[in-house]
Amino acid sequence: MNRRSVFTLLLLLLLHLDGKAQKWEGLARTPQMGWNSWNRFQGDIDEDVIKGIADAMVSSGLRDAGYTYVNLDDCWHGRRDSDGFIQADPERFPHGMKALADYVHARGLKLGIYSDAGTETCAGRPGSMGHEFQDALQYARWGVDYLKYDWCNTADVNARGAYRLMCDALRQAGRPIFFSMCEWGDNQPWRWARDIGHSWRIGPDIWCSFDSTRVFPTYVQCSVMDCIHRNDSLRRYAGPGHWNDPDMLEVGNGLTAGQDRAHFTMWCMMASPLILGNDVRSMSAGTLAVLTNRDLIAVDQDTLGVQGLRLFSRDGLDYWFKPLAGGDWAMAVLNPTRRPVSCTLDWQDFNFTDGEVSGRSTAFDKHIYKVKNLWTGRMEGKTSVRPKAGRRLTVPAQDVVAYRLIRQK
Ligand code: GLA
Repeated sequence: MNRRSVFTLLLLLLLHLDGKAQKWEGLARTPQMGWNSWNRFQGDIDEDVIKGIADAMVSSGLRDAGYTYVNLDDCWHGRRDSDGFIQADPERFPHGMKALADYVHARGLKLGIYSDAGTETCAGRPGSMGHEFQDALQYARWGVDYLKYDWCNTADVNARGAYRLMCDALRQAGRPIFFSMCEWGDNQPWRWARDIGHSWRIGPDIWCSFDSTRVFPTYVQCSVMDCIHRNDSLRRYAGPGHWNDPDMLEVGNGLTAGQDRAHFTMWCMMASPLILGNDVRSMSAGTLAVLTNRDLIAVDQDTLGVQGLRLFSRDGLDYWFKPLAGGDWAMAVLNPTRRPVSCTLDWQDFNFTDGEVSGRSTAFDKHIYKVKNLWTGRMEGKTSVRPKAGRRLTVPAQDVVAYRLIRQK
């Protein structure tokens, strides 16, 4: 080979190495919806629990509301076999993962699994490092539909390379598998992971608190409000196929009814993945009502795919807007404070253009919208094109009022 062909070959190789990752397309046109074991069960999972969850997803109506993934988190793993293929924990999953996937699929649901880019998972189970292609192949053989890929025990590993490697492995394995990146935002994946993952965590783990950060010596856990604040500045990076993930829901795990409403509303306003974190086998009617609020799910799943924005905060209230397909807007007035706050809504205060992402304008001075309250379900009249005294609104402590503004032709 002459020098010129060697040079060309090297160039081609470099171009290949630096080409786009080939993630599975079409799996995340809207944010993913499902359930995950971690928030409620941590490592204490087995096949009976997961089957019970799958059954409850169907009987409660959650599946039909759109929650289709049933995702195992950490601690499903056993050992690798003599060829290096990962096996399920034989005591907790005696019938194996293929049987569990079949059970879940038979109910019109999909199965998700969890691994880690490092040597071990966060709970000390085998990680995928050095076994990426084998693990992806094994998941595909089992019929897995979703992989959450964590970031513990990865000292000195390049995040982009590690996630890209698993993305390629999933592609090679031949089964479309949703790729949920869980790197906690440490390496700003929103800047580089658009072609690699379908969603990426933007911060540390959530815990069941509305507004208190939990501080440990080497890490923190975020409250609902912490997650919202972290996500606030990242909206330009989200869109169909690639979503910011402020972590799984804590609805039904001990927050007040108002906090649950606010938490759920804000995840929908932010076009976040809706991954339930409660025990859906034994939830209250109130929790189910929050999780199956179809008007809010429609806001989350809106096909325009734009993450909402906080237009401004005033007198303790946060005013959020999300443009929707067809000219509608979703609006939420969030009260993060510990006391009720009253305000007067004058639509003319909210004239703005979303120059950052959608280019859409509210134009309350030109258009009239019908106002639907998304928690009472009631129609509350129309917006006005002129400034006027406005409507008085009281938002209870740590609660929310949410509307769909339906544009009149
Ligand atoms: C990390 C992740 C969590 C969960 C645990 C499991 O902390 O961020 O979401 O998956 O690991 O060990």
